[in-house]
Amino acid sequence: MTADADKHAAALAATAEVRPGMLVGLGTGSTAAHAIMALGERVRAGLRITAVATSRATEMLAGAHGITVLPFDDVPGVDLTIDGVDQIDPCRRAIKGGGGAMLREKIVAAASTRMIAIADGSKRVGQLDRAIPVEILPFARAFVLRRLAELGASATLRIARSDQDNLLADAAFGPIADPAGLAVALSAIPGLLGHGLFLHEIDHACFALDGTVFWDDRP
Ligand code: A5P
Repeated sequence: MTADADKHAAALAATAEVRPGMLVGLGTGSTAAHAIMALGERVRAGLRITAVATSRATEMLAGAHGITVLPFDDVPGVDLTIDGVDQIDPCRRAIKGGGGAMLREKIVAAASTRMIAIADGSKRVGQLDRAIPVEILPFARAFVLRRLAELGASATLRIARSDQDNLLADAAFGPIADPAGLAVALSAIPGLLGHGLFLHEIDHACFALDGTVFWDDRP
């Protein structure tokens, strides 16, 4: 089984939770793309749902698969969001933002009654230790990078910008012993508009490893 086949299996299991009439939050990235395509198939078979997208890429993919995407600025709440992760621990605390969409992803996740994270089994770790993606207001670039260094991070700016045309960087802290404390410290930096630590948003996590699907906190 390839990691891609496992992403597909996890996505399929999670999209089975989508019921008629739901407003669905669509995540960003290669795993979320499997979920969008699986939902598109169900829509073509008659499932009636609406959706919001966490990125322009997702909006285009969902539209191409026949899913009605509403503008999120008109939407106060979402029934169920399905999204990928870069790493996730057994308490369903995750690092997201590999694709640079974590600001919109976090807003949509926060607006959601329930969120399911989907991933191939390699993303499930005992302790979060990946670099944390951050979105930075261009005006504040040097200042935010200084603050990140003062917090102990080695930060690398990406060439690509976010859908909001802000800067993106990956802040490596090594193993993260206190994710909650770090999230507070990052959120307190003026000009740092969003970070990829998702500590409370994920209700259920669905993985597949070598073709076997398993859940942390099954719905
Ligand atoms: C997008 O910004 C990210 O949060 C993705 O959801 C995350 O990086 C997982 O991406 P893949 O499913 O492509 O691994």
